[in-house]
Parts: sequence; structure tokens; C-alpha cells
Amino acid sequence: MIRVGLNGYGTIGKRVADAVAAQPDMELVGVTKTSPDYGAETALRRGYDLYAAIDDRAAAFEDAGLETAGTLGNLLDAVDVIVDCTPAGIGERNQPIYAAHDTPAIYQGGEDAAIADASFNARGSGAIDDPDSLRVVSCNTTGLSRLLAPLDEAYGVEKARVTLVRRGGDPSETDRGPINDVVPDPATVPSHHGPDVNTILPDVAVDTAALKAPVTGMHTHSVNVTLEQEPTTVEARELLRAEDRLFLIPERAGIDGAGALKDYAADVGRPRGDLWENCIWEESISVEGRDLYLFQNVHQEADVVPENVDAIRALVTDVTREESVARTNEAIGVGLDSLLSDAGSARDQIVADD
Ligand SMILES: NC(=O)c1ccc[n+]([C@@H]2O[C@H](COP(=O)([O-])OP(=O)(O)OC[C@H]3O[C@@H](n4cnc5c(N)ncnc54)[C@H](OP(=O)(O)O)[C@@H]3O)[C@@H](O)[C@H]2O)c1
Repeated sequence: MIRVGLNGYGTIGKRVADAVAAQPDMELVGVTKTSPDYGAETALRRGYDLYAAIDDRAAAFEDAGLETAGTLGNLLDAVDVIVDCTPAGIGERNQPIYAAHDTPAIYQGGEDAAIADASFNARGSGAIDDPDSLRVVSCNTTGLSRLLAPLDEAYGVEKARVTLVRRGGDPSETDRGPINDVVPDPATVPSHHGPDVNTILPDVAVDTAALKAPVTGMHTHSVNVTLEQEPTTVEARELLRAEDRLFLIPERAGIDGAGALKDYAADVGRPRGDLWENCIWEESISVEGRDLYLFQNVHQEADVVPENVDAIRALVTDVTREESVARTNEAIGVGLDSLLSDAGSARDQIVADD
């Protein structure tokens, strides 16, 4: 059993906690919070031991009537690996604390790539030699790595150009925006997302430009990839359909955007309406000469979740990447596939264990 601790029980942390708890080879030892708010209460309701992330906040939990099992230091001493899901930049501050407890750590995409021995994506990363720490790349970088890796392997990527329409904030983030505009963010082109993809796929030429829109549901990517070979549109669609963490949305499903996608996810029983897969509009995948085009949506709260589970195995076990992905997918039910697809259901329907 891999004993896992989770530091930072927010948007990403609570989802990673649930995914870890669902793995037969992992034990979730506990989660941390700084504030005794609804997030702390729901962690306890789910049966997770709660630890104070900051020592002098422990009394606040007691005052609020929420029982803690100790502080971050106690948690670090009780686990084989800590998954840091604190806000961007806090992971860097936590790094010396993890080192002092000799606890291998996984960080998130809000941290600089230099924080860890390697950046990680289960589909795109090459071999990583005995790391002491890993950084699971951001939601957008995860979505692009999953897409570009198979295209590069099958046809060679000469150049990828991607426009990212990013959600303004997560649904619970009432202080984010914009609320009535579409804003180039960053206004400089290319954006930092392309170089981040190169932390996973160093040899793939990719330029990105990014905007922020007043939506909370998902990011939307408009993708153009110039390939070295010239597959047919059908061949490109079949290549992408075969990937477990890519969901091809069939035209006749009537799913026209993030709202319908989230509705679909909730209706098929996904926890929190989460979409762990990239969601690609099948009819948008088209090849003109060597240029491939498509639209995909990425659920920013969810796509990095299975990647964190695989990063845990990559960090502290000898389990192969393929075996880890298969275990993760089976335990939580990754591998969405519509019965309305023209090709029928390409994969066995996976049912979540819990
Ligand atoms: N949200 C996304 O769309 C998304 C997608 C992919 C990657 N990421 C990355 O994932 C990381 C976490 O993002 P998030 O959106 O999950 O953030 P979040 O919702 O703000 O959650 C962060 C959590 O960390 C806790 N925290 C704050 N300060 C802490 C500290 N000093 N020590 C320990 N815990 C602390 C907070 O607890 P309290 O509430 O108790 O203070 C909160 O539960 C970031 O690197 C982000 O860039 C985010």
C-alpha cells in the first residue's frame, strides 16, 4: 500500500484525494486545510483525517469543533508521498518542509517547472529516471500533451498552433474574472503554454496564444497541427478515438459546449460532473493536406486528477506507466465513450468502482 498525504484540499486537492482513496494500491492517510471552513467539514464527512496545514492554525479547527489528527509535520511523517495541491507558489514555500521530513513530493502546474526533478504527464512524458519529486503539468498543458503525443508518434508534428480560450475562474472562485469581456491573457504571443508543453514533449514545435473568457466550466482549444505525413480525416479520428483519455464527442450527441458536456458528465454519474478526458468534437477533426484542425474542451478542475494518481506510482513504485494508467482508469472510471459514436463504442464501457 502506498501511503499518500494531500497538502491543500481545494479544487484540485479534493478531487485527487477521492481518486487516491479509490485506488486499491493506495491509502489516503489524510488531507490538510488552513481554514476550518466547509472544505474541512466535507473532508471529515468523507472520512478523511484532517491535518492543520500551518501549525498555529490548529487551534482554529478545535475552536470550530472540527477534529484534527495533527499538523502537516505529523502527516509527512506518516506517508510515503505527499501531493501538494496548494495555491500556485505555495508549493515552492513547502518544498523545504517536505525535504526536512525526507518525503517525496508531487507538485502542480502552478509551480515553476524547476521545482521538481521532472514535469509529468502519463501519456506524453518520456522515461523519468528515479525522481525524488514530480510536477504534474497544468490543465491546459495536460490537455495539449495528451493530444500532441499520439499525433507526433503516428504522423510527426511539424508545428502545432493552438489558441486557448481559458475559463475566467473555477465555479467556486467568486473573485475571478473577467465578467463581461474576452481578454488576451497574456497579451504577448506566443503564450507560456507552448514552452510548458515542451517540458513534456521537448521536440514538438508548438506555439500558443491565450485569452480569458467570462465562463467557469471549461477551457476551449482551437488547434491546428501541421503534420509531417498526410493522414486522412478518418485515420486521424480513429487514432485519437483509440486514446483512453481522449473523448470524441459524436455529432449526434447534441453536445454543443461546456454546459452540455458537464450535464452529460453528471448524467452518466461522474462525481462533481467531472470530465477527466479531453473532450474533442469529432466533426471538428479534419485534415486538409498536412494540416489537422480540431476543437477540444478541457475540464480544468478534473483532467489533472488521473495524472496525479499516475505520478504517485511513477514517484514511489516500479509499476510501468501503462499498468498505472490502466489501474487508475479502472479504479475511477476514466475512458468515457459514447454509444452514439459512428464507430459504436470503441472501448469497453468502464464502470467506476465506487
Ligand atoms: N483549479 C484549476 O483549474 C487548476 C487546474 C490545474 C492545476 N491547478 C494547479 O493546482 C494547484 C492548486 O490549485 P487549486 O485551484 O486547487 O487551488 P485552491 O482551490 O485555491 O485550493 C488550494 C488549497 O490549498 C490550501 N492552502 C492554502 N494555503 C496553504 C498552505 N500554506 N499550506 C497548505 N495548504 C494551503 C487551501 O486551503 P484553505 O482553503 O484552508 O486555505 C485550499 O484548500 C495550483 O498549483 C494550480 O495552479 C489548478
